[in-house]
Amino acid sequence: MSLWKNAPIDSRAHAAVAANGLDYRVIDTADRAEFDPYLQAEMRGFLAGEQTDEQIGGARDGLSFRRFIGVYDPASAHPEQPVGTVNSWVTDVTLPGGRTLPMWAVSGVTVAPTHRRKGIARAMLEGELRTAADAGLAIAGLTVSEATIYGRFGFSPATYATDWRIDTRRAAWVGPRPDGRLDFVSRERLRDELADLHGRIRTARPGEIEAWPGLWRRMSGLVPGQQDAQKLRAVRYADPAGATRGLVVYRLADEGEDFTKHELQVHYLLSETADAYAALWRFVLEHDLVSVVQASLRSVDEPVRWMIADQRGAHVTTSEHGWLRILDVPTVLGARTYACAASLTLRVTDPLGFADGTWTLEIDGEGAPTVRPTDAEPDVTLSVNALSSLVLGGVRASVLSAAGLLAAEPHSAVAMDRAFASVDTPFLSLWY
Ligand SMILES: CC(C)(COP(=O)(O)OP(=O)(O)OC[C@H]1O[C@@H](n2cnc3c(N)ncnc32)[C@H](O)[C@@H]1OP(=O)(O)O)[C@@H](O)C(=O)NCCC(=O)NCCS
Repeated sequence: MSLWKNAPIDSRAHAAVAANGLDYRVIDTADRAEFDPYLQAEMRGFLAGEQTDEQIGGARDGLSFRRFIGVYDPASAHPEQPVGTVNSWVTDVTLPGGRTLPMWAVSGVTVAPTHRRKGIARAMLEGELRTAADAGLAIAGLTVSEATIYGRFGFSPATYATDWRIDTRRAAWVGPRPDGRLDFVSRERLRDELADLHGRIRTARPGEIEAWPGLWRRMSGLVPGQQDAQKLRAVRYADPAGATRGLVVYRLADEGEDFTKHELQVHYLLSETADAYAALWRFVLEHDLVSVVQASLRSVDEPVRWMIADQRGAHVTTSEHGWLRILDVPTVLGARTYACAASLTLRVTDPLGFADGTWTLEIDGEGAPTVRPTDAEPDVTLSVNALSSLVLGGVRASVLSAAGLLAAEPHSAVAMDRAFASVDTPFLSLWY
């Protein structure tokens, strides 16, 4: 078993919740008497209804590989159900240049509404960050449903995502028409091919993380008790040699009164080649009896914009999506490659201490970095949040400078813009 899964509770976090008469412990995910009430509490924290035994079983199967820790109130009427939850695991995140780093992924942060604003979330998050740093992790990450919480712990957005709503009458296809073929695939095959395809593309995209098997089961509608699973449809694109190069998972929403005006909702569209991308987008946009195509969690740089006759037929909204939190500056800055040579001294501030310090970043003509601690005067002074946003190359130093989030002479901010730029747009295609 991985060492991180049952790493002991951070003693400072334990003491912080104990001061309020609460207990804090790592869950034994093999013990249903402990794990099932935990999962009910987490779902309640995310405002879901009470889960059936079948649904809890599905969650148990999909998530038990993770580390689960809970805050318990012994005085509660249901002391077996935690009042605070968080789960975490170690997974790879891709950096510009294609190297990956092990990342402490954090998920399922909830505090019961009866116990809010007593510092439980703070104790859990600071505790998890210290546990991650003690385990030797250089970076942590999460996706958020409440974006205002995590900045205070050093997390900051590093990838952005777009939601699309496309009027198919205005979005006549003007893109390529590749030669490969499209076929529906079974749920089981979809699960396996999604895992394979994502495994192949994830290191080509800064910001993408390694997925977990339960995610593909859910994406394929194979989790017991999963709502509306039978509505999911999946199509694969095979290249002329017969190899799967792309998959789209979608559902058709109820049409209301007019059968010609269904909404096609793209749940996931994953492609390995430009041909697969074009063929699958064309498939959804030219689907008969569909007037609107809706797609969430797409890149900020979708080529489909240029494949439709009228770009105004697509309504696109952008939001932050993948949040990172650097714990070890030299390891993270030293693991990516850069766009050009540069020499920069960075002063990083971190109220929690992990990333605090001053480093010189020397980048050679090949984009390879050397990072060393220094006492030199900094060219750039920035918080760990700002550096965590910049590290994938999707956010620019000069923009953060203009926003007052980074202090630098303009030429240093521009040097950082040029060096940190990423050829591939940073993107995370998953929620976790
Ligand atoms: C969000 C949530 C986890 C906060 O838990 P909590 O125990 O009440 O938080 P804490 O008391 O530890 O507060 C920590 C800090 O975050 C702030 N904070 C907490 N919830 C906040 C919110 N919803 N919006 C903005 N700030 C928030 C607190 O003011 C406090 O700030 P400070 O310590 O800098 O003064 C809890 O309200 C919850 O479970 N909400 C529903 C589920 C959810 O949104 N989870 C987050 C998923 S991404």
